Amino acid sequence: MHVLVTGHTGFKGAWLVLMLLERGYSVSGLALDPVPGALYDRARLSDLLVHDLRVDIRDASATRAAVADVRPDVVIHLAAQPLVRESYRDPRATYETNTMGTLNVLEAVDGAPGVRAQLIITTDKVYRNVNQIWGYRESDALGGVDPYSASKAAADLVTQSWMATSITQVPTAIARAGNVIGGGDVCADRLMVDLVTGFSCGRSVSLRYPQAVRPWQHVLDCLNGYLDLTDALLRGDASGEAFNFGPDAASFVPVVAVAQAVATLWGGGAAVSVDAGDHPPEANLLALDSRKAELTLGWRSRLGFDDSLRWTVAWEKRVRADEDPRAVTLAQIREFATLGREDTR
Ligand SMILES: NC(=O)c1ccc[n+]([C@@H]2O[C@H](COP(=O)([O-])OP(=O)(O)OC[C@H]3O[C@@H](n4cnc5c(N)ncnc54)[C@H](O)[C@@H]3O)[C@@H](O)[C@H]2O)c1
Repeated sequence: MHVLVTGHTGFKGAWLVLMLLERGYSVSGLALDPVPGALYDRARLSDLLVHDLRVDIRDASATRAAVADVRPDVVIHLAAQPLVRESYRDPRATYETNTMGTLNVLEAVDGAPGVRAQLIITTDKVYRNVNQIWGYRESDALGGVDPYSASKAAADLVTQSWMATSITQVPTAIARAGNVIGGGDVCADRLMVDLVTGFSCGRSVSLRYPQAVRPWQHVLDCLNGYLDLTDALLRGDASGEAFNFGPDAASFVPVVAVAQAVATLWGGGAAVSVDAGDHPPEANLLALDSRKAELTLGWRSRLGFDDSLRWTVAWEKRVRADEDPRAVTLAQIREFATLGREDTR
């Protein structure tokens, strides 16, 4: 099995490449250059890939040529501009990458012979956020106020149209997940990255949205959902559908509580404070109802909230103690696989 991952130089993409290799698959990647310090570089992923392509998905013909060249069996489309604050700074580039880029990938996959399954990754932020306390279901209305959310909702709708009108013959599904955490993230503007960076240099970390409640899910739980859905597509199930992959209710925790828990795990006097400055609006509460994935795919979160934080801090500490990032990541992937389908909390 040969899998093409778009966005493989990013955080989720790097973990996904190693998970796929652990399954014995061949893997190729298509993305922009990694940002400095990316897990992609630290884990030396380019050594492990069949094709390691630098292609801008805003360029339709380059994307088409690249996918045709790779000739994958499966495509998992992660590449995106994933940051809300950056989307306010440059909405046009965000829409071009997230919305039109997704259309370019869909077209490219249609034009490439032999693709047996494709998965389009959107986000929990595609739902029209009405600040309800219960989780959004796949049948709820889409929306999105900030440009990132709207661009991903638009990508989701483009994919839904693509699937519903049978423009494509390739079995296709959409995966929606929320905030993920895990070792090796370096994306600016993410809480865990700010915490780990600050604590490791002995700085107090200030919080922008201390009371905002977010779901906290380990990247392995989210990616495991993507792989369960890919397996379903390959079996001939789930095509034309969207699936949520969110953590359990106990993992919806205010930013301030997460920061304090990570400070305790980090030890050595790590501390947090509150930043009272002006910040662009972000949706307040966003929970996913993942029962569809649980009931139809047999997917379940394996790491609870505490373990997700513990595994993330453990990864960062081991790598800071000079362990090899690839080896630490693979060790966590292997340990995760032994957890089976039971919730371990
Ligand atoms: N990390 C999260 O908490 C989270 C939450 C919900 C959804 N997601 C979604 O998961 C996916 C991956 O997110 P991530 O956290 O790994 O992001 P990331 O920023 O770490 O990685 C983004 C990847 O996309 C690639 N990319 C960006 N613009 C591109 C372009 N124009 N052409 C080609 N490649 C391009 C980058 O090179 C990189 O490989 C995204 O679709 C994102 O919207 C992430």
